[in-house]
Amino acid sequence: WIYNGLKGIPDLENALKEELNIKKVIIVPGNSSENRMVLKDMGKITSKILKELLNPKDIVGITGGNTMAVVAEEAVSDKKTRDITVIPARGGLGKTLNTQSNSIAAKLAEQLGGVYRLLYVPDTLEQEALEIMLKNEEIKESIDMINDMNILVFGIGRADTMAKRRNLSEDKIQDLIYGGAVAEAFGHYFDINGKEIWEYKTIGLSLDKFKNLNNVIGVAGGEEKAQAIIAISTLNKDMTLVTDESAAKKILKIA
Ligand code: G3H
Repeated sequence: WIYNGLKGIPDLENALKEELNIKKVIIVPGNSSENRMVLKDMGKITSKILKELLNPKDIVGITGGNTMAVVAEEAVSDKKTRDITVIPARGGLGKTLNTQSNSIAAKLAEQLGGVYRLLYVPDTLEQEALEIMLKNEEIKESIDMINDMNILVFGIGRADTMAKRRNLSEDKIQDLIYGGAVAEAFGHYFDINGKEIWEYKTIGLSLDKFKNLNNVIGVAGGEEKAQAIIAISTLNKDMTLVTDESAAKKILKIA
């Protein structure tokens, strides 16, 4: 395919990096929402970038979701031991064990030869329960670690899909959509310009902390996530994006 002088993946990567105005873009050919091999390749590349970035004493945060589960699976161990800690960036979500950030963090730590720290907090908590939990020593220590995190690997979701996954009420979902929410990442919902529409109250990474991280790797593919990717890319210029050809072409309006 040739469009506006763009030929092949490297050109597409450059065009998308310029369009989104972020640090780095990596594109895997194909469509990850239709082909699991594409998703696996995105996972492999993400783990490779992460390994190259790691230094002793690093604290790596990771979120939940299908994409992050694949990143952890594909970060195949190189038998090295690394002096790093992996932590879930937010409280857990959903009932499927292998797509919860706790299990993903544990798996990733194992593959990287590091250690992990779990966060024993559900993603759905009333304010009062949250305040009580915040007094717990172990939870406090986990939160301190989240505040000290210096690398984040995270999934990007559509606002509507993630609202349904969190079992939000129909009214709340409509509210979010009328409010312009198109993206969800680490429990925060954003409109296309990156304005925060709503935050799902739980324990973990704050938006301020996210904006100030120098090493953030966002991973998301499939053309249905195009708007979500655009929204999240406005939040932190230091972001590296790992995506697929489908999402890239949709964002660049050449699909
Ligand atoms: O927050 C967004 C999710 O991590 C995206 O989840 O990878 O299952 O689409 P997914």
